[in-house]
Amino acid sequence: MALYAIGDLHLSLTADKSMEVFGPAWENYVERIEASLSRLTEEDVLVLAGDTSWGIDLAEAEADFLFLDRFPCKKYLIKGNHDYWWTTAAKLHRFFEQHDIHTMAMLHNNCFFYGDYAICGTRGWFWEEEQKPHNSKVLNREVGRLETSLKAAEGRPILCFLHYPPLYQGYRCPEILDVLKKYHVDLCCYGHLHGPAIRRRIEGTEDGTEFSLISADYLGFCPKKICD
Ligand SMILES: [Fe+2]
Ligand SMILES: [Fe+2]
Repeated sequence: MALYAIGDLHLSLTADKSMEVFGPAWENYVERIEASLSRLTEEDVLVLAGDTSWGIDLAEAEADFLFLDRFPCKKYLIKGNHDYWWTTAAKLHRFFEQHDIHTMAMLHNNCFFYGDYAICGTRGWFWEEEQKPHNSKVLNREVGRLETSLKAAEGRPILCFLHYPPLYQGYRCPEILDVLKKYHVDLCCYGHLHGPAIRRRIEGTEDGTEFSLISADYLGFCPKKICD
């Protein structure tokens, strides 16, 4: 039994937006995902840190979910900036029920317990979303969601998963970083960075939180083992 995480699978089994156009790093990526997820067991837990499917709605994402559901590990999903299929929790639960999908749950304004740990997370905020005037409403909403998730940990040690990096070479999101610090988050994994942007990732420990990039192309489409 182990906890794994990976972001940005960018599946497109129906939507016809294969990532293979982005060059050799994405070559055969669906087959590589299939090979690595096949090694996880029913006992394992996998956090999917956003940008899971290119589907613009649940109908278009259906094939991607059915593909993922074939792997028996439990999957906790957070929202990425490309997850246009993401809808209300009630609609997603109904969709999973209707399609006999039993391995997935949404990590959104909540947390899940794993051993002594709490698994928390939300989409987060990134400079790409910076608008003029500053879009504080969206930022505040994400900070609120993060805090709701971290509070649900009820004091357990926290493993936090964000889609957007809260820090990046040349960029910091102080509002998100302050919350991570306030709740003494042990580990913060993030995705979203692809291709040349991977060079600008920040990894290592700051204010007691370890930061780690888990985007799929960075990990070679093999989920990162977080702990046993
Ligand atoms: Fe992505
Ligand atoms: Fe993204």
